[in-house]
Amino acid sequence: MKPLASRVAHFAPSPFAAMTALALEHGAVNLGQGFPDFAPPDFVLAAAQTAFSSNLHQYAPPRGHARLQRAVSETLAANLGFTPDPESEVTIAVGATQAMYSSIQALLEPGDEAIILEPTYDMYAPQVSLSGGVANYLLLEAENNFALDLEKLRALCSSETKILILNTPNNPTGKVFTQTELEGIAALALEFDFYVLSDEAYDRLVYFVRHICIASLPGMRERTVTIGSAGKMFSVTGWRIGWAIASPGISAAIRRGAQWVPFAAATPVQEAIAIALEQTKHNHYFQSFQAQMLERRDLLAQILTNAELEFWQPDGGYFINANTSRFSNDTNDLARRFVQEIGVAAMPMQMFYSSDHAHLAPKALRFAFCKTRETLEAAGERLTKEALLRL
Ligand SMILES: Cc1ncc(COP(=O)(O)O)c(C=O)c1O
Repeated sequence: MKPLASRVAHFAPSPFAAMTALALEHGAVNLGQGFPDFAPPDFVLAAAQTAFSSNLHQYAPPRGHARLQRAVSETLAANLGFTPDPESEVTIAVGATQAMYSSIQALLEPGDEAIILEPTYDMYAPQVSLSGGVANYLLLEAENNFALDLEKLRALCSSETKILILNTPNNPTGKVFTQTELEGIAALALEFDFYVLSDEAYDRLVYFVRHICIASLPGMRERTVTIGSAGKMFSVTGWRIGWAIASPGISAAIRRGAQWVPFAAATPVQEAIAIALEQTKHNHYFQSFQAQMLERRDLLAQILTNAELEFWQPDGGYFINANTSRFSNDTNDLARRFVQEIGVAAMPMQMFYSSDHAHLAPKALRFAFCKTRETLEAAGERLTKEALLRL
């Protein structure tokens, strides 16, 4: 038989699936993959019941269900500093994943350069590669608390740079980019004429710092795609709803591609998210979600402290990275031993680096805290100073 397509041949299977399988095999507490193990809020579940009982069972338009486009625009307006036009600037997608994919497809020509800040959530590089683009990595140094070195970023920029992929609040580091860092990126975007694709899936999850949308900075509205995830916002990652907010011109290009893949996200699920977002205007959900996640962050931080593991304190998102350098330099192997010998699953930091830079990754494991108190406490009973001594 003729060979299969080379464009996917080099993609490795997701390490998350392998870690989840290993965790199941060993009955380990799974703090590997970043999905909540608690129920979504009642008002979101009630919104789904209402949505599925209404007469919305046919295709939504590829740009999105109008009620959801409106609700996303209203919800994001305060952070963006402008109200995006729901019809021409908000595109609904099958999760932030498709929103990013369709945005990259709309902007990158084969051979165009995309700057990716490392460590990086693992979907960007494959999506850039699927478009024929070339990934250029800028390392954020763990020793420097993952601060962005603007001089190093400038050195990487050229007339070939077409996009920069930003992720704030960040997975895996928990970093929330500062105003100075974002202004620096914006100045370079204007100088070198590139676009910023800003993945803000965790925009509601910041702890004592402010989340700033880069699209809110002067001159950036026209050259930013702001990407969001209802899955992360409402702890319904399986519902697969996200969005891309961009100028009418970029949005039209995103939709020209998205009309063929995937055509549209599920209509009643879009309706459910629209109803839920409308209710957040009055029910203070985002504040209570943030407070609950902060409690979970602090509980995991306490567990790591009790186990005498140092960690990078996250200002946002779902994850804490713990320094495991005293156990092993091979964090892939260490993650396996954590499952087998401690009974807790976590992801090796190394997997968030390109293969050329994997050796520069901090010797660290990423633990997810988007879990119930019971799950985190069960992890705490296993992840003790004494258990680590036996490793
Ligand atoms: C930074 C980041 N962006 C996007 C996603 C995926 O979002 P969605 O489930 O809406 O596709 C994730 C999921 O872990 C993520 O961590």
